[in-house]
Amino acid sequence: AKEPARVLVTGAAGQIGYALVPMIARGVLLGVDQPVILHMLDIPPAAEALNGVKMELIDAAFPLLKGVVATTDVVEACTGVNYAVMVGGFPRKEGMERKDVMTKNVSIYKSQASALEKHAAANCKVLVVANPANTNALILKEFAPSIPEKNITCLTRLDHNRALGQISERLNVQVSDVKNAIIWGNHSSSQYPDVNHATVGGKPVRELVADDKWLNGEFIKIVQQRGAAIIKARKLSSALSAASSACDHIRDWVLGTPEGTWVSMGVYSDGSYNVPAGLIYSFPVTCANGEWKIVQGLSIDEFSRKKLDLTAEELSEEKSLAYSCLS
Ligand code: NAI
Repeated sequence: AKEPARVLVTGAAGQIGYALVPMIARGVLLGVDQPVILHMLDIPPAAEALNGVKMELIDAAFPLLKGVVATTDVVEACTGVNYAVMVGGFPRKEGMERKDVMTKNVSIYKSQASALEKHAAANCKVLVVANPANTNALILKEFAPSIPEKNITCLTRLDHNRALGQISERLNVQVSDVKNAIIWGNHSSSQYPDVNHATVGGKPVRELVADDKWLNGEFIKIVQQRGAAIIKARKLSSALSAASSACDHIRDWVLGTPEGTWVSMGVYSDGSYNVPAGLIYSFPVTCANGEWKIVQGLSIDEFSRKKLDLTAEELSEEKSLAYSCLS
């Protein structure tokens, strides 16, 4: 039998946490042959609720779940973890300046980075979900220099899956037959959902949809604004889809992407596609042997180029804002 893997979920008493931890305990994150020990972190005001989640995990009697650590102590939470899913953060509240939210999150991600750096297992893989996801991941990378930068990623798989879902609805085909959409850039409304290389049953999505106006206009907007649409409908932000996509992200990263298929991940830019190096930017990637690789050589037309640059500019600004919050 395999040794249990230790999986940290921060913000585990929150909405996404509540959807995510049972998925992890069921093997959705790492496979149904991989036992897990869950480490759940939240802040003191949520300690009681966090303990309630722990009680439910015990009550659910998950065969794969070999232990639960529920704590408000960041060192205890980070000790020995093989995977860290960072969902905790400070939400933007009405009337708050962007800079104030950034300052709070920079300080959270700085201190949690240091704890991971000192206490996580070697080769710990990190997925940042909490917004601003790309920039939180960048701060985490800066303050955990001994964790390889390739191990620090952010979630844009939800946006990727949303793009697949919209194409599947439009063409009335199974979502599992839609492949190779791309989310470029920031997990924000400046992201660029790109279907220029996407296919259904091997045929180009552009040919099948045969409506460039929709693909270059409304489709992009729907995907960019889907988070807001969910909030409007549910009065709460997306949680089950975020949790499910977080599992997809890690599972594909660890177990590999199928031959001929890529996914979108926010990763540390090496300058591919003329995206400035040193940003955490969403690219198309394939994964094998626990490592992601940016898909190279895709053609980028003029329309796409502008959109890739625009979201990169936003990320560069976020990066400067984050650095200005550090001092
Ligand atoms: P939530 O507010 O329900 O839960 C957040 C939890 O984090 C709360 O329990 C809170 O107490 C905890 N928390 C706050 N500061 C913390 C700290 N320093 N350490 C540990 N825990 C801390 O929010 P929800 O809906 O679960 O969303 C979580 C985050 O995920 C938000 O930032 C949200 O914007 C983001 N998100 C990202 C998506 C993506 O695709 N990247 C999609 C959906 C949400």
